[in-house]
Formats: sequence, structure tokens, C-alpha cells
Amino acid sequence: MNLQNVSLEKIAATIEQYPPENLPEIAFAGRSNVGKSSFINGILNRKKLAHTSSKPGKTRTVNFYNVDDTLRLVDLPGYGYAIASKKEKEKWQEIIETYLYERKNLYEVFLIVDSRHAPTKDDRQMYDWILDMGFTGFVIATKTDKLSKNKLNQNLKIIEKDLRVDNPHLIFEFSTMNNNGRSRLLQQIDRIVKYGEGFEDE
Ligand code: GTP
Ligand code: MG
Repeated sequence: MNLQNVSLEKIAATIEQYPPENLPEIAFAGRSNVGKSSFINGILNRKKLAHTSSKPGKTRTVNFYNVDDTLRLVDLPGYGYAIASKKEKEKWQEIIETYLYERKNLYEVFLIVDSRHAPTKDDRQMYDWILDMGFTGFVIATKTDKLSKNKLNQNLKIIEKDLRVDNPHLIFEFSTMNNNGRSRLLQQIDRIVKYGEGFEDE
């Protein structure tokens, strides 16, 4: 992954609109506003490729980012946006589930959580689903710039415990503000593309 050619290849609301299943894909799921789209920008080192917002409910489609024609990173709508109408929530849920269930070239799904908060019931459900589907169970804890080192370490333990994460090495810190965690995540993504799955040796 040399990040020379990065583009938003496709925006899809339905399965017919997905690009062909010809490249490995890695998807990022999580609650609304945790920083999924910001993560895509940060990891790809592009400021405004993915649209972000301080208000939840920004991403409402499945957005496929082509990386050097070797893989796609897939940004999903967030779940758990309390103010959305029931109908909207059901629609986003369906968009997320259709992608995750139907996509044959999906190599991994990372759960993204906000490092400041304990996981919600929705997060636990999503994480259990990720494991049930046979994915490794990687977690990214974002916005680490907003916490002291001590508080962050405390919260990472809570995240590990609440989600019942198998191994602390499956949890990755990340911040778009200071690039914390970026190189470790890039290595992990490279490894997933190369080997299909498996976690990092420290
Ligand atoms: P939806 O599309 O609604 O599901 O949200 P999202 O998960 O894509 O979140 P998004 O990337 O739009 O970010 C939400 C807000 O969090 C924005 O105001 C971002 O600037 C902010 N944010 C994201 N990552 C970080 C981070 O690492 N540090 C800080 N301080 N703010 C962040
Ligand atoms: Mg988004």
C-alpha cells in the first residue's frame, strides 16, 4: 500500500451499486460520530477525501475507497444515532447489514469506538456479530488525543472487558489529530491484504 492513488470509487445505497468483488475489502463499522470517516482520511493521509461532520448521521451510504487498485477501505453509515427517525434507522441498518452479509470479498471488519466512552449495547452486538461471522475482532479506539495517557489506558481496559476482546493486541489506538496509532494500523492492514487475516506480532 503506497497510497499513491487513492479515490472514492463508489457510493452505494443498494447492492446493485457495489463495485465488482475483485479486490480485498476492509470495512469499518461503529456508532455514528465515532470517527469512521475521519479514520479513512487519517489512515490514507488525505484531509478531505471522506466527508466528516461534528453532527452524527453524516455517512448514509456504503462508500468504497480504492487504494492503489490493491484494496478498498469501506466506510459504513453509523448506528445508534438516537435522534434519527425509526424509518431512517431501519434504512441505515439495512444498508449496513446488506453489505456485511453479502460481500464475498470482505476480508475484515474493524469495530471503531470512541476511546472516551464505554461500549454501548449496540457496540457489543456489532462486535459479537463480527466474531460470529468469523472475522478476527479488531477494534479501533479513536480520538485518543482527547484523553490523558492514564485515562486512555483505563478506558482501553474497559473497552477490552465490555466487548470481551480476546487479546489486548486486537485493540488499536487512533487519533487524527496526532497520528497516534497510524503506523501500527497501516502494518495491520497490509498484513490482512497479504495473508487474509491474523493479528500483529509485537
Ligand atoms: P457518521 O458518518 O455519522 O457515522 O460519523 P463518523 O463515525 O464517520 O464520524 P466522523 O468521521 O464524521 O467524525 C465525527 C466527529 O469527530 C468530527 O467532528 C471529527 O472531526 C471528530 N473526530 C474524528 N476523529 C477524531 C480524532 O481522532 N480526534 C478528535 N479530536 N476528533 C475526531
Ligand atoms: Mg461517516
